Amino acid sequence: MCGIVGAIAQRPVAAILLEGLRRLEYRGYDSAGIAVLAAPEMLNRARTLGKVARLSEAVAAQPLPGTLGIAHTRWATHGAPATHNAHPHICRDRCAIVHNGIIENHETLRREQTAAGHRFTSDTDTEVVVHALYDALTAGADLIDAVRQVTAHLQGAYALGVIDTHDPEHLVAARQGSPLVIGVGFGEHFIASDVFALLPVTNRFIFLEEGDIAELTREQVRIWNRDGVLVERPVKTSAVNADAAERGAYRHFMLKEIFEQPQAIAATLEGRLLADRVLPESFGNQAAALFAQLQAVTIVACGTSYHAALVARNWIEAIAGLPCQIEVASEYRYRAHVVLPNTLFVTISQSGETADTLAALRLAQTSGYTTTLAICNVPESSLVRESDLVLLTRAGPEIGVASTKAFTTQLTALLLLTVTLGRERRLDAAGEAQLVRLLRTLPSKIEAVLALDNQIAVLAEQFVDKQHTLFLGRGEQYPIAMEGALKLKEISYIHAEAYPAGELKHGPLALIDEEMPVVVVAPNNALLEKLKSNLEEVRARGGQLFVFADFQVPLDEGHGVTVIRLPETDNLLAPLVFTVPLQLLAYHVAVLKGTDVDQPRNLAKSVTVE
Ligand code: G6P
Repeated sequence: MCGIVGAIAQRPVAAILLEGLRRLEYRGYDSAGIAVLAAPEMLNRARTLGKVARLSEAVAAQPLPGTLGIAHTRWATHGAPATHNAHPHICRDRCAIVHNGIIENHETLRREQTAAGHRFTSDTDTEVVVHALYDALTAGADLIDAVRQVTAHLQGAYALGVIDTHDPEHLVAARQGSPLVIGVGFGEHFIASDVFALLPVTNRFIFLEEGDIAELTREQVRIWNRDGVLVERPVKTSAVNADAAERGAYRHFMLKEIFEQPQAIAATLEGRLLADRVLPESFGNQAAALFAQLQAVTIVACGTSYHAALVARNWIEAIAGLPCQIEVASEYRYRAHVVLPNTLFVTISQSGETADTLAALRLAQTSGYTTTLAICNVPESSLVRESDLVLLTRAGPEIGVASTKAFTTQLTALLLLTVTLGRERRLDAAGEAQLVRLLRTLPSKIEAVLALDNQIAVLAEQFVDKQHTLFLGRGEQYPIAMEGALKLKEISYIHAEAYPAGELKHGPLALIDEEMPVVVVAPNNALLEKLKSNLEEVRARGGQLFVFADFQVPLDEGHGVTVIRLPETDNLLAPLVFTVPLQLLAYHVAVLKGTDVDQPRNLAKSVTVE
């Protein structure tokens, strides 16, 4: 993970770099650092443990003047979170680098460099890069050549920002396996891990491709591809509003993002429904012909996006009549597969930069799938650029580490996919029209369920002092229970597990006592009666049940059962509607526990290392 930012300008850059880091903090926040060239051969660096705000305080106390600099916010992989492991790393006051990614051959390089007399000051994999750079520079290479020589010997993934104290006119960047954009200004240029970091200074961007090395001056940008050929990369104007990533009046980004779901879902549907049809062009012009041949679907994703895939399996098999296989990307990529003929390969990702999902896509491209489709929230991401077909969710920037609106917009996109695939098969025009009518009601359904916020805030008090919580669901609500458990554990640090309710008596029932809250997702569907029997099994053993149920579901309250009534919902939309109260529950429990809701410990939003 980690976020990097760099600038070469005619004005002081420290404030620009610090604001960039603040906006990149979702990528990691265990330490941060900045290095600015004050004059040739005069490099000043500040590094602090913890969040970017602490680095800003350090720089306010001891300003870093200068117009060329690099900065970094870290998510520790090699070497504990500590000031001496924070970037930028410097070699003998000559050159400095920031790095996002993992250098896999760092141990060999470290041994060679130690033998050659380099002294290591950190436990990171990154430090080998700065020593190699020093050797190349002192052997006479200019900065761009030095970076070329060094990167030729690196294995693994990197986005690099590099400066040489003897060369105040250049900032060099390289990308291999980790995202990097160049911000184009007037008389100034920037680099960053994503566009948000740079939106306060520019809306014009060049997206580097794998293997690119770029040389930035104040006036120009030159880029060489992996074969060393000078290339032109297009400058794209971003439509993202710099304020979209601001918290506004909300106490936390997560709460803001939960409340943004009606608009985000409406935006994801916009332009994709025409009268009573899903527009086939939503997936690109070649999609209809490709989809017509399909006989199976495989979906691969990580984290919350994986839960969206699990829900979609139920829809794709039941409504579209296609066999659908789901796998977490980190498992998929290391397993031998049987690819069925005419199979669609789908990836789901908020960021489009998750290392395992990207690697799975690249593997799939050589495995005989009919075509690849990305369902993704970031139009400029690697996943989008490398997939044949794309359906963008339009959730807008999601900053809270715990994913919320990205998930419900992914489910919305997956419903669009289900209908489109179903049309070729089980779904007739009347069926499609009915599903489209339901889809149009989705934003208002979510709006209605958000009204439960106060009630859920009160309910949260009953969870604060608990050590464990069990979540139960059946059918397409089982992944919703999994998502509810994930939200609770990641932001409140309460251990939470989800089970298909029918599995209860095969083990987890042993855990039930009066200290174990059991959260149940209970829409009024065909499995309700079976689910009610499962609830009795818990109740009979003294467990505390918290049941999220449709309005009309007959359930008795009292005696260890609390029922939270949700607005009436069609079964198709129930997974989305039932997700929202579980998000709110996790949020309010975390607030009551006083944890860092938006940046929970040990996690990062964009997981760009495997
Ligand atoms: C991280 C985030 C999760 C996210 C997962 C997959 O773990 O904290 O919220 O679901 O990565 O990310 P993606 O961007 O591929 O959806």
